[in-house]
Order: sequence, then C-alpha cells, then structure tokens
Amino acid sequence: MADRDFDVVVIGAGPGGYVCAIRCAQLGLRTACVEKRGTLGGACLNIGCIPSKALLQSSELYEQARGHLDRHGVKVAGVELDLPAMMARKDKVVDTLTGGIAGLFRKNGVTRLSGTGRIVDGGAVDVDGERIAAGGIVIATGSEAATLPGIAIDEKRIVSSTGALSLPEAPERLVVIGGGFIGLEMGSVWRRLGSRVAVVEILDRIAPGMDGEIAGEFRKILGRQGMEFRLGAKVTGVEASGKELALALESAAGGGEDVIACDTVLMAVGRRPCTEGLGLAEAGVETDGRGHVGIDGRFATSVPGVYAIGDCVGGAMLAHKAEDEGIAVAEIIAGHAGHVNYGVIPGVVYTNPEAASVGKTEEDLRADGADYRVGRFPMLANSRARTYDRTGGMVKILADAGTDRVLGVHILGSGAGESIAEAAVAMEFGASAEDMARTCHAHPTFSEAVREAALAVAGRAIHV
Ligand code: NAI
Repeated sequence: MADRDFDVVVIGAGPGGYVCAIRCAQLGLRTACVEKRGTLGGACLNIGCIPSKALLQSSELYEQARGHLDRHGVKVAGVELDLPAMMARKDKVVDTLTGGIAGLFRKNGVTRLSGTGRIVDGGAVDVDGERIAAGGIVIATGSEAATLPGIAIDEKRIVSSTGALSLPEAPERLVVIGGGFIGLEMGSVWRRLGSRVAVVEILDRIAPGMDGEIAGEFRKILGRQGMEFRLGAKVTGVEASGKELALALESAAGGGEDVIACDTVLMAVGRRPCTEGLGLAEAGVETDGRGHVGIDGRFATSVPGVYAIGDCVGGAMLAHKAEDEGIAVAEIIAGHAGHVNYGVIPGVVYTNPEAASVGKTEEDLRADGADYRVGRFPMLANSRARTYDRTGGMVKILADAGTDRVLGVHILGSGAGESIAEAAVAMEFGASAEDMARTCHAHPTFSEAVREAALAVAGRAIHV
C-alpha cells in the first residue's frame, strides 16, 4: 500500500521537470515533483543559465566602465571590481528565481518532494525510502559536466561551469577546454574581469553546430576582444606543478605537441546525462550507450507509464527544449496532443555580440543537397548598431530556392538573442523570406537587420 499517490510524479525540478509538473497540475492531474537539491530550478537556475547570464551582464558593465564609455563621452574614474558584490548579486538573482518556482508550485498545487527519486517500477517511485505511487512517471534528471579521461574536476583549479561561476578571484591565466557555448560565455566573463583567456578546441572551428560562416566571424570578434584560440588542439592531460597547471596539447590532426601553463582550467567539453542511482536498469528502462534514456516520439521509455524529457534524453541540451518537452509530455499524459517542433529550437550564446540561430545551417543544407538562397546583412550597416557602437556581426537567412520558405536564420550581433524570436515565429508559421521582408520593422532597431537579410535573399536589400 503506497504512503502517498499521485497521477504523475516528475523526477527532477529543472526547466523540463518543473514546467512539466506545473502543466500536469494545470491539466487537473495530481502531481508531485521530486528534487534532491535544496532549491528548485535544476542546473539552469542554480548553476547554469541564470547565474552565468547574471555574471555576463555584470562583467560587461565592468568592461564598459573600464574604457568603452569614453567613446560615448562618459568619463569614469576609479573603476574597481568588487567581485564579492558581483557574486552576491548573482546569488540573489538565483535565490529570487528559485524561490519563484516554489511559489509557482504552491499556486498550481504541485507537491514538492524533497529527496532522491528512484524508480521502483512503472507505478512507483522511492523517495529516500518512502514509496510514492505514481500513475505516470516523468524522468527529468538533466545533465552534468563531462570531463576528459584522466582529468579530475576539483572545482578549485580545474573547474566545471559550476566552479567557474564562483571563482574567488579572476585567475591570471585561464585555459578553457572546449570552444562551445559554456567555454565562450564563461571565457568572456573572466576575460572581462581581467583574466588572460585561451580556448583550446579540438575542432578547427568554435561552436560546433553553429553556421560555419557565422562561427568564423564570431571567432574573429572574440579574438579582437582578446580571447586567444588554439583550434585543432586536443588536450591530453593536465599536470599540477606548484601553483601552476601545465596542459599537454596535441595537434588533433596528429603530430605536433605543446604545453601551455595556466592557473585555472575550465572544463567545457560537453555534458552527460544524469541517470545514475535512478534505478533505470533494475526497473527495465533502456538507455543508449551514452547513458541517455531511450524514448519514442511520445517521450515514452521502454517501461509503460515511464516517460523522459530534457537533457537526459539527448538532443539539444537547452533549457527551452526541455521546457517544451515538459509541456508536451504533460499534455500527452493528460490525453491531449503534445508536440515539439525540433526544427525550430533557437540557440543563443550570450556573449557580446550574441550569437543566435534557428533552423538549418548552410552546412546542413549542403549535406541535404538542398537548393537554397542566402541573404546576408552586416550589422555595420544597421543604424541602431551604429548608435550603440556595436557594429560587429551580421544576419544570415537561408531560404528554399524554389518556395522561398525560410529554412534557417543566424544572427551575430547585439540583441541577437531577442531578435531570433521573430525568426522562430516566422518559421513556425512557415514564412517565406518575402513574408519577413514585407513585415514592417520599427526604425531604428537591430531587428531591421533581420528584415534587410530577408530582402537580401531576393537581392533587394536597401541599405547595402
Ligand atoms: P558543447 O558541446 O557546446 O561544446 C564542447 C566543445 O568542446 C566542443 O566544441 C568540442 O569540440 C570541444 N571538445 C571536446 N573534447 C575536447 C578536447 N579533448 N579538447 C578540446 N576541445 C574539446 O558543450 P559545453 O560548452 O560544455 O556546453 C554543454 C551544453 O550546455 C551544450 O549542449 C550547450 O548547448 C549547453 N549550454 C547552452 C548555453 C546557452 O544556451 N546559452 C550556455 C551553456 C551551455
């Protein structure tokens, strides 16, 4: 006999899990959400998206105050970094938002179960020894930082993104392993706060998955800001000698070896699903070779009644993808039609400039053998960018050569993370480049660059 029973028990209160729990409750299902961390919100709110964006904002202001304001005729003297205050503000932002989710749970009637959840079978979850009966179970346990063989993360000198969010001081020399989203964002934070930052990336380009042309431009801009790149270099080991760390590098193409010295290493080589201790094997829930929970098109695992969403199932490891899956699975469990359009999931790197994209890259289209047209517009020719002194970057729109349907939008520039929403809406509605081009955009705005790129698809941009 179960101690307590629910229609749905969600394991994990990250963006996938907490959104799923709220949507389940909205749909009239008696819902519980199990979380082992003291606060709700998962990695995103506690040690990921939110604290990193708080530090990106603070560090950008610091960098501006240290020099960039001069260009605007604003003279600032005696600028100092108060890192503890910056960290305290970040922690307050996190506290407010995680507390906000607890409030949303209360408002929606979601029962919060504190503890570690383990699946007993398709109808029960064990939470620290208490058996909870569940009509349906949703696994939303997220992901954690991966590391390289033989390199242990101590969160002091060799840190993951978690440690990189609370270093006690800016290291003199920081080496970031991995030129992906985390490496570029946290590398930017510490460069702005005074560190010499080098990014070691195994591929010959940064930000894999991003449109190659945009990624190339992005690297040039970050390079001009002072971030160093060692592309095509593989880290084979890290050795501590006294206060210094020595990173052994090998050319990814084979051959050349090198050693670089630094004070701190940020390991940002990707994330792996968190599924240990969940009792998956015992319950018969199948996983793939990399530990992702196997699901079908309706988020169902190999055990009837058990579903999985978010980072632990693979695909894009993005909070908003997990949220959308959380909503979709809640609707499926409640007997509605839940659906996620994986072709329109935007991605944003919150550096300065921001890099944002949705849909296909030019490399994807070439690989598909698609017949497409490209429209480009440089931020240099955008009047708002001029007034802000933020002229780096471009917009690139890819459209089907026959139908003009928008297939991909890539924005490198200020406000890209906001402007990409327009492209996502357009793509959801099956817009053509001409639809985007004929939509009136306010002047002067960064988003006019999106319109101009859409015009450029048909060779009729006005401002270049
Ligand atoms: P990532 O997968 O984006 O990038 C990892 C990078 O490390 C790749 O470029 C890879 O080629 C490189 N790499 C792998 N092994 C290496 C080696 N031995 N030596 C040198 N380089 C190596 O992973 P990242 O940046 O750790 O982020 C993890 C996840 O979190 C990603 O899925 C990312 O999308 C997500 N994320 C999203 C953010 C956002 O939406 N703004 C911010 C931060 C993370």
